[in-house]
Amino acid sequence: MKHIIIAQLLDRRERRIDRCSNMEVENILRMKEGVGECSYAKNSLLQRTMIAKAKPVLQESIRGLYHALQPECLMIADLGCSSGPNSLMVVSEIIDTIDEERKNLNRKSPKFGVFLNDLQGNDFNAIFNLLPSFYQSLKEKKDSDFGPCFVSGTPKSFYGSVFPDQFLHFVHSSYSVHWLSQVPRGLESRNGEALNKGNIYIAKTSPPEIAQAYYAQFKEDFTLFLRSRGKEMVPGGHMVLTLQGSVQRNDPDSLWELLGSTLHTMVQEGVIEQEKLDRFNMPFYSPTAEEVKELVEAEGLFSVNKLETFKVDWSVDTNQNLENRAKFVANTIRAVTESLLTTAYGEAAMDDLFLRFSRMVKERMDQEQSEYLNIVVSMIKRD
Ligand SMILES: C[S@@+](CC[C@H](N)C(=O)[O-])C[C@H]1O[C@@H](n2cnc3c(N)ncnc32)[C@H](O)[C@@H]1O
Repeated sequence: MKHIIIAQLLDRRERRIDRCSNMEVENILRMKEGVGECSYAKNSLLQRTMIAKAKPVLQESIRGLYHALQPECLMIADLGCSSGPNSLMVVSEIIDTIDEERKNLNRKSPKFGVFLNDLQGNDFNAIFNLLPSFYQSLKEKKDSDFGPCFVSGTPKSFYGSVFPDQFLHFVHSSYSVHWLSQVPRGLESRNGEALNKGNIYIAKTSPPEIAQAYYAQFKEDFTLFLRSRGKEMVPGGHMVLTLQGSVQRNDPDSLWELLGSTLHTMVQEGVIEQEKLDRFNMPFYSPTAEEVKELVEAEGLFSVNKLETFKVDWSVDTNQNLENRAKFVANTIRAVTESLLTTAYGEAAMDDLFLRFSRMVKERMDQEQSEYLNIVVSMIKRD
């Protein structure tokens, strides 16, 4: 009897991990810390490319904001900043654009309050270690009347309030809002049976309720995100979000499908358990541009200023040989998902998983062009 109860408790605990509720995603999701070979810092060229592609929209939005408000102290937040070179690169871009604009307008430099936000497990220390050289380069590059600029970290989920009311002038977030607060509810039947067996996201073989459950979770999370920013931002404040998107609603994601197939080969060879694959789903959703627009308009707190989509090859640089491109994709995905996958399948499986994944990516890229669709949306807080 005692054994049965313990087995049931363990089973329930494992299921909780696989279901990845709100608190668990907050605690588990983190980009690979540090500056080692597998770190996010060394494997975030893809995300850096997205930032570069979205730069014209970002700059236009910042100029618009500065012209309209010209605050003496400009409060900026980067939500889901992660760690590594991208975090401060975005901050530099924002500051440079404002500095240029205030010179054009012959205005005194504003002071800058910069808040770098991410989940509590993020490697904030890695960013803080880069701050002395960041401040030094501002000192060297800017005029003596510049700033000053104060950078701080704000560890907390952006699904909920992070800042005081009417505090922020500009909010930026790149490649973060497609992460959900939790694995959607409704991926299990009433009696606890997994409904998305053999897949880890919306796939061609997923039943229709899977796509519905994913959209419902995104709608709930994105609405909360907009409401939270709506409170924290001043009227006329600007926000620019870049996120992974889908061409059409309920589109299966071929990259997650490929990672799911890789896990499936490991199940077939007895390396991981079938049950673990059946119960694991990504806390991620890539909406269509229309879904984003509809949700922003339905909430009514922001007006959409600009909404664009652009594509980037999975490997960023298509001039490289196929082997290197596939390794690049596998390393990029590993740096982002290892924390989630380790929790589900154990650390020991990771090298094998990503070696296999790299081979599958290579095969796929040999057959067809594989690209991410991305959405960049700029919006203004209504009065
Ligand atoms: C792929 S990284 C992008 C990081 C960075 N913006 C860049 O472009 O390189 C996504 C980041 O979003 C963060 N994130 C995901 N969900 C979050 C949440 N609810 N609140 C705050 N940060 C979150 C992750 O921890 C991760 O650091």
